[in-house]
Amino acid sequence: MKKKELQVVNSVEEMIEISSTLSGSSKIGFVPTMGYLHEGHLSLVKEAQKQTEIVIVSIFVNPTQFAPTEDLANYPRSFERDLKLLEELEVDYVFFPTEAQMYPADYKTYVNVEEIGTLLCGKTRPIHFRGVSTVVAKLVNITRADFMFMGKKDFQQIVILEQMLRDLNFSTKIIRCDIVREKDGLAMSSRNSYLSTDERRKALCLYQSLLLARKLFSEGIRKASVLKPHLKELIEANDGIIDYIEFADPSSLLSTEDLFSETRVLLAVKIGKTRLIDNMNLAE
Ligand code: PAF
Repeated sequence: MKKKELQVVNSVEEMIEISSTLSGSSKIGFVPTMGYLHEGHLSLVKEAQKQTEIVIVSIFVNPTQFAPTEDLANYPRSFERDLKLLEELEVDYVFFPTEAQMYPADYKTYVNVEEIGTLLCGKTRPIHFRGVSTVVAKLVNITRADFMFMGKKDFQQIVILEQMLRDLNFSTKIIRCDIVREKDGLAMSSRNSYLSTDERRKALCLYQSLLLARKLFSEGIRKASVLKPHLKELIEANDGIIDYIEFADPSSLLSTEDLFSETRVLLAVKIGKTRLIDNMNLAE
C-alpha cells in the first residue's frame, strides 16, 4: 500500500493555518524534538499515533536553551535521515522552522517557570529551562496540540512544562512516556553519539547506579545520605564526573532525605566531555 504523504512545513503562519483547520475535527498529537532522531523519539511518535488522529513532529534545535558555552553549533543534526524515519512511520506533518521564523530580530518574550527551573539541571544550566519553556509555549500554540508526547528521560523538563501549561492555561496535556533504553540499559539520547567506544562502556554507570539505588532501597535503606555514597562510588569508578545525584519528590523535585517508592533518583554525569542524564523511581 502507498505510504501516506508526509508534509514538511517551514513557516509558522502555514503551520498555524493547517493546525487551526485540523483542530476543530481531529485530536492533534505533538512530538517536539531537536532532531537527530533515535528509537526514543520514534516511540513517542508511535504513542502519539495510537492516541491521536493527526501527528505533528517538530524539528528545531532551539538556540535559547543553550548557553554560549554549550554545544549548540555542534549539536548533531541529520534532517534527511530524520525525514526518512518519519516518512516510514507515516507521520502527518513535520514542522521544521528556521531560527528567524521562531525568533525574528525583534523577538522579546520569554517564559520562565520559577523555582523548579533552578533545581537539578537548572543549577549548572541557568537559562536552559527558560529556553525550553519559551519554545514549547510557542510550539504548542503553533501546532494547536491537544496532547504533547514527552519522554521521562527529561523528567525535570516534563515537570516544568506541566507547570507552565497549567499556569498559562494552555489546554495541551503532556503524555509522559517511558524511557527507551539500549539493550544494555543506557538511556537513548542524541548526545550518546558523542561517546567514544570506551566512554560508551563507562556511560552504563548511570543506569547501573539507578539499579543499585533500587536494590539498596529494596534491602531496606530509607535515607538518601546513606544511599548516595554507594552511587557516587560506582560512578566515579567509571570515571564519571558527577554534576548531581539527587533523591527528589516526584512532584516538587525538591530533595528529600527520607526515601519512598515514588522518590525519584535523578543523575547528571559527565562521561568525558558528554553530559548525560537519567532517572528512575526507587520502586514500581
Ligand atoms: O527535549 C528536547 O528535545 C527539547 O528540550 C524540546 C522539548 C524539543 C524543546 O526544544
